[in-house]
Amino acid sequence: MAKPVVEPRRAEAPVDELFIERWSPRAFRDEPLSETEVAGLFEAARWAPSCYNDQPWLFLYARAPEDRARFLQILTEGNRVWASRAPLLAFVLARRAFRHNGRVNRHALFDAGAAWMSLALQARRLGLYAHGMAGFSPEKVYADLGVPEAEYDAIAAVAVGRLGDPGTLPENLAAMEHPNQRKPSVEVAREGAFAGA
Ligand SMILES: Cc1cc2nc3c(=O)[nH]c(=O)nc-3n(C[C@H](O)[C@H](O)[C@H](O)COP(=O)(O)O)c2cc1C
Repeated sequence: MAKPVVEPRRAEAPVDELFIERWSPRAFRDEPLSETEVAGLFEAARWAPSCYNDQPWLFLYARAPEDRARFLQILTEGNRVWASRAPLLAFVLARRAFRHNGRVNRHALFDAGAAWMSLALQARRLGLYAHGMAGFSPEKVYADLGVPEAEYDAIAAVAVGRLGDPGTLPENLAAMEHPNQRKPSVEVAREGAFAGA
């Protein structure tokens, strides 16, 4: 059967190539990251902005085989099948309360999202790829990794590595192994009020 034509990503306005070149592959090369690469990923995340500069994110990461195996058990089967080859797995946690006053931080997820995106863009700068995941068990993050649930919200998982061979993926995933598209910009940004006068 003929392969479907994959349209290349096209920007609607001039933008740094980094934004277009970031995408979420599933075929990773099982090749370790260097210390410098790992440090660079988390350094980028460190400089993300946050409400009251609280920096509510915490990345728990795994590189050693035994740690990766432990982290993999927390992912859904659908993610485990491809993420098992990624040399770095992480869970993104967001601290629920502000450090300065103990009040609920309504923006912790927003801030942790900014930190993850910084990491993902830095990954591309390093020739790496980061793939975010919702498919994992937060309950297992708390129970298996000793995360205090009352203090932290386990909000996402991330796989990082170098691009691998799509032939290592099950057929259905191999068919999706290319950058996808976006809604037109008019659908995501509007000038003025939502509606009415
Ligand atoms: C918070 C979040 C959760 C996601 N969960 C999964 C997941 O569980 N499994 C998966 O294969 N991809 C997952 N993705 C990847 C998205 O499907 C992907 O980012 C989206 O289709 C846009 O494609 P791109 O990242 O290649 O530009 C997730 C992405 C984010 C940001």
